[in-house]
Amino acid sequence: MKRRRFIKTGLITTTAVSLSPLSLLKSKNCNLTSSDILGPYWTENHPNRTILANPGEPGTRIYISGSVKANDCEIPLANAIVDVWHANDNGCYTMFMECNSGNPTEDPYNLRGQMVTDENGEYAFETIWPGHYSVRPRHFHYKVTTPAGLELVTQCYFYDDPQVDDAWIENHEGLVIPLENNNDELFGVFDIVVDQEVGQVGLKGEPTLMAQEPTLHSAYPNPFNNNILISFSLSITSHVSVSIYDIKGKWITNLSDKQMSLGAHTLSWNGKEATGQDVPSGAYLIVLKAGKHTRSKKISLLK
Ligand SMILES: [Fe+2]
Repeated sequence: MKRRRFIKTGLITTTAVSLSPLSLLKSKNCNLTSSDILGPYWTENHPNRTILANPGEPGTRIYISGSVKANDCEIPLANAIVDVWHANDNGCYTMFMECNSGNPTEDPYNLRGQMVTDENGEYAFETIWPGHYSVRPRHFHYKVTTPAGLELVTQCYFYDDPQVDDAWIENHEGLVIPLENNNDELFGVFDIVVDQEVGQVGLKGEPTLMAQEPTLHSAYPNPFNNNILISFSLSITSHVSVSIYDIKGKWITNLSDKQMSLGAHTLSWNGKEATGQDVPSGAYLIVLKAGKHTRSKKISLLK
């Protein structure tokens, strides 16, 4: 019963998709889903499943569905990987913390899972509403990888959360969703639009997709004290160099200079020069070069 209603919730909110001429599609107002920080609690190899919380997991049961679409907001991306992870009801993350409740089988991947979008680009999962931790609002973490290897790291927040105020909504446009409460269970829809270019339409009418690359995500934590995590994703295998410069353009160190495969990568910098000397507090630049593309981000070291 719950399951049927859940699936229906997902379906009725999804607009019927048709392969309209590209000129028509591009004239529509279409917003890409913003990226958000990866955070420190992502791990590789989340199991493939749509029920992330076991039946006894404490917390309010929540059902999320949605779609993944290309940057025309119309063409669904089938076979995209939607990777979701979140805190438990007490704001505790398995694999990184001792979480005492709701995991009788000691599943190391409790409250984590990957699903694959269907032919309509749709995904759905069931879990519990994540709790607060620190000053962070309730949230799901998402990492979406398209078949062409484009990756979007983002988060989903909720209007029903008292910690989500007007400023938060303004700074996280498109990432805050309403929830419907039905018999103390929550239902929400989070649709995702990735920056995947819609190319020519193939002979059978199916779209050919081309990825844009590379993406340098927000580093975490920033400002940092000891160590900063630098995440980026590549849509094709490329020669990648990642370097740190100070704000005046002086080279500090290299973190990578080699061929890297498509997908997500994370490096860390410990605030030291190539010689091993600590650098002083201040602003620094991460410069990522992948093939012909260069991306940079400013970071701050606070001691
Ligand atoms: Fe988090």
